[in-house]
Amino acid sequence: MKSNVAEDFIKEEKLRNIFNQVFDNQTIEAVHELANKGYIDYLEYIISTGKEAHVYKAVDKAGNPRAVKIYKIETSSFRNMRAYIEGDVRFKRVSSDRRDIVYQWTRKEYKNLEKFTEAAVRVPMPFAFYRNVLVMEFVGNEQAAPTLKEAPFKNIEVLYEKIVEELAKMVYKAKLVHADLSEYNILNHNNEPVIIDCGQAVLLSHPNAKEFFERDVKNMCNYFRKKGLQKTPEEMKNAIKALKSSV
Ligand SMILES: Nc1ncnc2c1ncn2[C@@H]1O[C@H](COP(=O)(O)OP(=O)(O)OP(=O)(O)O)[C@@H](O)[C@H]1O
Ligand SMILES: [Mg+2]
Repeated sequence: MKSNVAEDFIKEEKLRNIFNQVFDNQTIEAVHELANKGYIDYLEYIISTGKEAHVYKAVDKAGNPRAVKIYKIETSSFRNMRAYIEGDVRFKRVSSDRRDIVYQWTRKEYKNLEKFTEAAVRVPMPFAFYRNVLVMEFVGNEQAAPTLKEAPFKNIEVLYEKIVEELAKMVYKAKLVHADLSEYNILNHNNEPVIIDCGQAVLLSHPNAKEFFERDVKNMCNYFRKKGLQKTPEEMKNAIKALKSSV
């Protein structure tokens, strides 16, 4: 059953082997469910094999490029996930089951991407999720866009202005704090920043929201300093506040 289902939508043998090693029946069924609904036609290649998730370049039934993020059930740090789900009024009941938590986490990333998209924050647009599988806009041209870590902006001052604006939209319009912002979770797509990895983002009402926001700002200031632009967290926060009524 497992390999038959997988063969339906994974064209390349090498990819199929990796998939079969890492993913269980439920995950394969989840991909199949999304394939039945047309969100995935086939998985083309692996973009990233991380500790928490694998991200694939995929194509949907209409031929559109898509990114498919599949959270691992076994190795996801679910204790950590709990801390970001607890305190979020959107998730009243936090399960103690590892699999359920990873499913809730996937739903949380989808909902966060939806909120960010509505607030015009530049994130990948989400299309669908099922269990631990999330389908979203593919950010890239032929290849997936590199991270800021891999491909810094040509003009660092311009990037600073853009990040300040994205942070203002996140806080004042989406009313969410990203909570893991760094040069690893921002893509450089044709010299425009696209913010990714939004599973841990929390509502402003979350008890740790302020602490997470301070950390995001500090991380970004550290990055800008490494790139030769000196900004203190106070300066960056003031710049964000100055945009409150215009975002
Ligand atoms: N929508 C997308 N379009 C193109 N590439 C993407 C997209 N989303 C993620 N990626 C690629 O996959 C990588 C990992 O994605 P992401 O940061 O969301 O996962 P992660 O939670 O950090 O995974 P892990 O912690 O397991 O490494 C990114 O650095 C990027 O290269
Ligand atoms: Mg990441």
